[in-house]
Amino acid sequence: SDPPFTIMALDLGTTGNRALLFDRSGQMLAQAYRELPQIYPQPGWLEHDPQRIWQDTLSVMRAVMQEAGIRAEQVAALGLAVQRETCLLWDPTTGKPLHNAIVWQDRRTAPLCQELIDQGQEPDIRQRTGLVLDAYFSATKLAWLREHLSAQDPGLLSRRILAGTIDSWVIWNLSGGSLHITDDSNASRTLLYNLQERRWDPTLCERFGIPMQWLPDICPSLGRVGYTAPDLFGAAIPIAAILGDQQAALLAHGCDRPGLMKCTYGTGSFLVAHTGSTIARSQHRLLSTLAWTSPNQPAGYALEGSMFTSGACIQWLRDGLGIIHSADETASLAQQLPDSGGLYFVPALSGLGAPHWDMSARGAFFGITGGIRREHLVRAVLESIAYQVKEVVDAVAEDLGSPLQRLKVDGGACRNDFLMQWQANVLGIPVERPQLLDATAQGAAFAAGLAVGFWEDYLALVAARPVDRVFQPDPESDLAQTCFRTWQEAVARAKQWPE
Ligand code: G3P
Repeated sequence: SDPPFTIMALDLGTTGNRALLFDRSGQMLAQAYRELPQIYPQPGWLEHDPQRIWQDTLSVMRAVMQEAGIRAEQVAALGLAVQRETCLLWDPTTGKPLHNAIVWQDRRTAPLCQELIDQGQEPDIRQRTGLVLDAYFSATKLAWLREHLSAQDPGLLSRRILAGTIDSWVIWNLSGGSLHITDDSNASRTLLYNLQERRWDPTLCERFGIPMQWLPDICPSLGRVGYTAPDLFGAAIPIAAILGDQQAALLAHGCDRPGLMKCTYGTGSFLVAHTGSTIARSQHRLLSTLAWTSPNQPAGYALEGSMFTSGACIQWLRDGLGIIHSADETASLAQQLPDSGGLYFVPALSGLGAPHWDMSARGAFFGITGGIRREHLVRAVLESIAYQVKEVVDAVAEDLGSPLQRLKVDGGACRNDFLMQWQANVLGIPVERPQLLDATAQGAAFAAGLAVGFWEDYLALVAARPVDRVFQPDPESDLAQTCFRTWQEAVARAKQWPE
């Protein structure tokens, strides 16, 4: 029969699960998608049903092969990119989750984080993990699950339990329960991983009360780790790459060395800059994190600014306020105006992430006068998405001691021409948008294909990605930069909001 001629990528994201097939030229052949229900048990809490994630993964994998008319034997390798930090516990005997997964946006463990900060634990944890002590990361979520579940069932802790992020859960299921693994990039988001030593940190596991035998083995991001169980798809597919979704996008954009950075505009915005094979420590509360690892090569590190709400603010204009029908109309509404009419928006709908890390901040409009219309609200929201990225890019440039030359972008909200032009104007550097906005899946595919020798030349693959448009900063106007300074004043006023 024919040799395998496709690579499959899974993009298991916060709002949905997607499978894509790519051919040898790096072109996407087909995709299948299922939206994932969001479970909000209380304000500020967010859960996902792990069984649903697994069932949807299976069904999009089957659907994409059917759509492209491809059999499992024709898939050379599978790569996974997953939403990071979201985590769960499951029972390997029954295969059942012990509770819903707690999602990265969930703030239920903010009081626990504050307690640890008050005890003075943050500097040591930061040194070990590269992260800040925030409810965003997995460790306090796993600690909450352990507490909550053992209160309900005191015998729980004597049983065999497995813990993991979404990659671990899905691979355990894909492999018929034989692989309990993760990769360095996902592990580096848990607050349990020692960034320098690249292994689980026993001191941290003890401090957060997570038994080390619950944790998966850590594998390189690129490299064959095993196979899907043959009965799932009629033949075994090699599993050859595991990445956090933001790191996968970094890889797709060709950001593999210091000075190269990308921003993904999804629910939140995630700016990630590669820092080479050394850990860069931020003076601005950016995260030091793993980019990706390959066998027999030095690990790549990155600095990251995670901003929790960006596309979510546009969604709020549509679903919360009902002042727009679709996200697509926001660009033309904003373009109707010469400026935002002195209106500024602080996009702190779930607190503020980098570089502020203020869980108590709340969203706000400042500068409302009688002349403000709905177009101004829309424009102020779009501008704020660009301003928060500007704040993080400035922080990265200061940490690295050199200005950055270009921003590569992806994710749904970067379809918005107004937003991208404003982003270029406020940064004063070009913003490059590729044709395929699904850089996350593309990165997972590139990684898997390179790992099994389906592709040989990483840089050639990256170079072959068609660019849709480069937004040059407007040399005639410094309006965006002037407004940015006023916006920072607005942010200062929205911080430390009394609960
Ligand atoms: O850190 C969270 C991030 O990995 C989620 O990304 O694209 O699923 O919203 P996304």
